[in-house]
Amino acid sequence: MITKNIKNRTWLLIAVFSCIAVSIMNSCAETQKVASKSGAQLWAENCQRCHNTPSPSAFSHEQWVTIGMHMQTRAMITNKERDKIVAFLSQ
Ligand code: HEC
Repeated sequence: MITKNIKNRTWLLIAVFSCIAVSIMNSCAETQKVASKSGAQLWAENCQRCHNTPSPSAFSHEQWVTIGMHMQTRAMITNKERDKIVAFLSQ
């Protein structure tokens, strides 16, 4: 009886780990999708949710770097996404 319970637990563990593995692989796929997006696209999708974004010429590159760090925490975007957006805005 005890042995049977242990076997059942093993299957449960395998099932749980499979779920975790599948969700990790899915999140990687999502990251690749984001990686192929341009700065302009990321900017359009993330920076106009809360306010109208000022035009790229409104601030210097140094100012955009600071704004990027500040707004990254608000928009909940990754460092890579922020860098792409800042590069686009600094053109
Ligand atoms: C969750 C809401 C939110 C998101 C998303 C967001 N912002 Fe903001 N933003 C704010 C708020 C609130 C302020 C007001 C001042 C502050 O908090 O610093 C602001 C202020 C600004 C300002 C200053 C405007 C001025 O005239 O001084 C700029 C520039 C800006 N955001 C750019 C961006 C960029 C670029 C992004 C995308 C990476 C972004 N924001 C995403 C909420 C947001």
